Amino acid sequence: MDRSDIDVRDAVEGDRLAQLMELFSSEWWTAERSPDDVTAMLTASDLVFALIQRSTDRLVGFARVLTDGVYLAVVLDVIVASHARGSGVGRMLLDAVVNDPRLAQVRSIELVCQPELLPFYRRWGFTEEVGRSQLMRRSGDPLLTSPRRQQ
Ligand SMILES: CC(C)(COP(=O)(O)OP(=O)(O)OC[C@H]1O[C@@H](n2cnc3c(N)ncnc32)[C@H](O)[C@@H]1OP(=O)(O)O)[C@@H](O)C(=O)NCCC(=O)NCCS
Repeated sequence: MDRSDIDVRDAVEGDRLAQLMELFSSEWWTAERSPDDVTAMLTASDLVFALIQRSTDRLVGFARVLTDGVYLAVVLDVIVASHARGSGVGRMLLDAVVNDPRLAQVRSIELVCQPELLPFYRRWGFTEEVGRSQLMRRSGDPLLTSPRRQQ
C-alpha cells in the first residue's frame, strides 16, 4: 500500500462510521460493538486517528486515545484493515499517535496488548517494564477476562 496515498485525520464522521464498523467487525474485542455505542465512544474519546486512503476514500487504520493531557494517556483500538497490513500503515498510525502534539506533555502513554504484539509496540518505546504494577480490570465483558484472550 502506498503510504503517500494515506491521510491521517482526527475524526470519523458521517458515512465513515460504516467503514469503522467494518474494521471493528474483524477483531475479537470489537466485533460485537453497535453503531450507537461506537458513535458515543467516538464523541467521548479525546483523540481519534483515522487513516484514510485518498484514492479509495476508505478507512484503512484506526486508533483512539483517552487522556487527561498531563499525566496519562491510554491508546485503544489500534487496528489496520486486514488487506492493508504489512506495508507500514500500522507504523504510520503509531507514529501519528506518539508524535501528536496534544500528547507531547503527557508523562505516560499506556496500552494493553496481546503478547505477540509486544515487539510491534516496543518500536515506539513502549516497554513491559512497569515496576511492580499489575493490570487489574473490573469488567462485565467476558472476552476481556477469559483466560484464552485478554486485552
Ligand atoms: C498490529 C497491526 C496494527 C500492525 O499493523 P501493520 O500495518 O501490519 O504494521 P506495519 O506494516 O506498519 O508494521 C510496522 C513494523 O512493525 C512490524 N510488525 C508488524 N506486526 C508485528 C507483530 N505482530 N510483531 C512484531 N512486529 C510486527 C513490521 O514488521 C514492521 O517492521 P519494519 O518497520 O521493520 O518494516 C495490525 O496487524 C492489526 O491491525 N492487527 C489486528 C488488530 C490488533 O491486534 N491490533 C492491536 C491491538 S493492541
